[in-house]
Amino acid sequence: MNRPSILVMNGPNLSRLGRREPEIYGRTTLGEIEEGLVQAFPEVAFGFFQSEHEGALIDKLFEVEDQGGWSGVVLNAGALTHYSIALRDAIAAVKVPVVEVHLSNVYAREEFRRKSVISEVCAGVIGGFGAESYHLGVRGVLSLPGQ
Ligand code: DQA
Repeated sequence: MNRPSILVMNGPNLSRLGRREPEIYGRTTLGEIEEGLVQAFPEVAFGFFQSEHEGALIDKLFEVEDQGGWSGVVLNAGALTHYSIALRDAIAAVKVPVVEVHLSNVYAREEFRRKSVISEVCAGVIGGFGAESYHLGVRGVLSLPGQ
């Protein structure tokens, strides 16, 4: 049995975690979140990728798809969640399962955050648990059939 491998991918502004609106997103940095995942899931081989750019996220998703062998992607698409049809189409175009995660509960915030254009093409959606959302996302990927 191969070790499960999961790409944790973060979109725009998530590089600023820890100092970006800490009252909403907490004080944990993205690096600390990634380190926490490595500690919590020693059985998983992780890849990590963050970009401020829509196209770079799509390129990375296709790279993972074409490489093959990845168990899934845990994706916090940031604001792209709410309007990027390009990202949605890319997720729909690949077989590798993508789990959508958010630190905050987007349904308890501004109206424009209540719509995700990517949820429909994701394997599942998790939000509102801060850094723990990523852990739940990893568990979600590991729970999918075939893992
Ligand atoms: C977010 C929620 C989005 O609405 C926002 O644009 C983000 C972060 C979250 O993790 O709660 O950048 O995805």
